[in-house]
Amino acid sequence: MSEIKNILICGGGMMGKNIAYVMASNPAYQVAVYDLYETDVEAGIRTNTKQLLDKGVITEEELSERLSRISFTTDIDSELISNADLVIEAVFEDMNIKQETFAKLEARCRKDTIFCTNSSVMSPSQISEKLEHRERFVGTHFWNPGHLIPLVEVVKSDASSDEVANIVMEVLRSAGKKPVLCKKDVPGFIANRMQHALWREAISIVENGIADAATVDEAVKYSFGLRLPQLAPMENADMVGTDLTYNIHDYILKDLEDSHEPSPLLTRLKEEGKIGFKTGEGFQKWTPEQAAKSNADLNEYLIRMLYGK
Ligand SMILES: NC(=O)c1ccc[n+]([C@@H]2O[C@H](COP(=O)([O-])OP(=O)(O)OC[C@H]3O[C@@H](n4cnc5c(N)ncnc54)[C@H](O)[C@@H]3O)[C@@H](O)[C@H]2O)c1
Repeated sequence: MSEIKNILICGGGMMGKNIAYVMASNPAYQVAVYDLYETDVEAGIRTNTKQLLDKGVITEEELSERLSRISFTTDIDSELISNADLVIEAVFEDMNIKQETFAKLEARCRKDTIFCTNSSVMSPSQISEKLEHRERFVGTHFWNPGHLIPLVEVVKSDASSDEVANIVMEVLRSAGKKPVLCKKDVPGFIANRMQHALWREAISIVENGIADAATVDEAVKYSFGLRLPQLAPMENADMVGTDLTYNIHDYILKDLEDSHEPSPLLTRLKEEGKIGFKTGEGFQKWTPEQAAKSNADLNEYLIRMLYGK
């Protein structure tokens, strides 16, 4: 396995631009972005990172220096593709497009070039199933906003080698990310399985008239949501004791939501076109100003939490 120097981001959309910005944080890496269509990667990164610049998390000099190490091509036969040591794919969430993209990459890259997919839900085993060298393929699930959220789930397929997974973890660490290894290729990987177990229960509480949507969110924000970044479930269970956790589960689990289908309430909202911020109503009503504020507040909060600014 050669040293990782040239990193290719395949797909220069929202996630691809942010991933390019992250990987270019390490001066050891030259980053290239490939997309089917002409894309102003620099302008996109500048827009996405404006709050970081405004708050002094990054200086204009540092940003310009990072951008100088990011190049762009629409030419699949460019040397930027054939010279890649590691590829992170962030094209549309479509199995055929992803498989075709990796077939094109395999025909042009070295056989030891490491291939990663940023798919949020699709199986890395399936995306890589037609490749000749499947051992060099893993999932790298960056979270949105990719330039802020530290976690990247490195997901092993049924054929990924440990060596490749370890190299990818190391490369992500060296670009300031917090990689975690998901040892099995399961839907939702690690974090989305937990997140959507919580969402299922939250929706069920609203649907059953136990509390309204705003109250459910308040109950999270002012209780375990506050301590989660410091005290997560497994440590918390040990803190209170596995004996107490056992007793609580013995009493409560039979009453928790365990549906294997999207809830009737969620289904009805979707069918009525009440899809949330985009239409001004979902579980709650949203003005365009409230929706914009929610997005801006999230970024402000993340920057405060991560950088103290
Ligand atoms: N948006 C999110 O919150 C999020 C979070 C985590 C992971 N992801 C995953 O990241 C991937 C990209 O998502 P996004 O939100 O950046 O999408 P996007 O639509 O913003 O960008 C996709 C880009 O891929 C390009 N593209 C499409 N087909 C291509 C091909 N064959 N070759 C090269 N480029 C191609 C498009 O032109 C576009 O620029 C998806 O797999 C998605 O599931 C998204």
